[in-house]
Amino acid sequence: MEINMETAKSDLAIFTEGNPANKAIVFIHGFPYEHTMWDKQIDELKYRYYCVAYDIRGLGDSPIGDGQYTIESFVDDLEMIVHELNLLKPVLCGLSMGGYIALRAVERNESNYSGLILCDTRSSADTDEGKIKRAENIKKINTLGVKQFVNDFVPHCFSVKSITDSNEEYTKVLNKSLNSNAIGVKGCLLAMAGRTDTTNYLSKIRIPSLLLCGEDDHLTPPDVMELMAEQILNSQFEIVPNAGHMSPIENASFVNSKIKKFLSRIS
Ligand code: MLT
Repeated sequence: MEINMETAKSDLAIFTEGNPANKAIVFIHGFPYEHTMWDKQIDELKYRYYCVAYDIRGLGDSPIGDGQYTIESFVDDLEMIVHELNLLKPVLCGLSMGGYIALRAVERNESNYSGLILCDTRSSADTDEGKIKRAENIKKINTLGVKQFVNDFVPHCFSVKSITDSNEEYTKVLNKSLNSNAIGVKGCLLAMAGRTDTTNYLSKIRIPSLLLCGEDDHLTPPDVMELMAEQILNSQFEIVPNAGHMSPIENASFVNSKIKKFLSRIS
């Protein structure tokens, strides 16, 4: 997919497709990936929506800086993009870490957004066990390098079926991730370890919300997301067949059909 890069004052790598006069959707990718994970969604949605994707600071083509990130600073970046591109009440669509950012952005200022799409994510903060795992992964990057970490981590994000049946696509995603910068990746791990818990806000969400989760997602399993959906008033929960944690890539046709139907209800 050909995407036009815009130069925003925020200094992040931002990519847009479609007519800016249309309803905007902001796509927030997962860790340790970058904006192209949404290509299959944007390819279909760009005809009716203004699609905005960007690389989270520290990943993809966005600046690394000092690697001192927080989910709060990631939300600041998102708000800066919404402001600079003059997006009027966009829909947020986030996967996993992108979902942590989207949920916190909605908790911070829900009136800025008209809808929420959460893919393969959770509202709870890291447990102590989870924080220790993050620390172990930082140690692994320091001792064995970021490529070793990525090679160990990425296979857990896809279903076994996707890795075997769509190996070319899987390898493409893996190779992009292998190019990640160690400081950026470690910064994201620390940001995720330090994030707040947004569970208490779920029952306060009033914007329409769609929750999608791969049936074979072991990182943020379907039962976790179903419980989230039960707490969100105006929500819809869908299990994505034949997919792990990267459901928008692994079963794009199913995900796209659910997203299109959901968006058609949002003014
Ligand atoms: C992601 O896909 O963004 C990560 O798996 C999230 C996490 O490690 O918590």
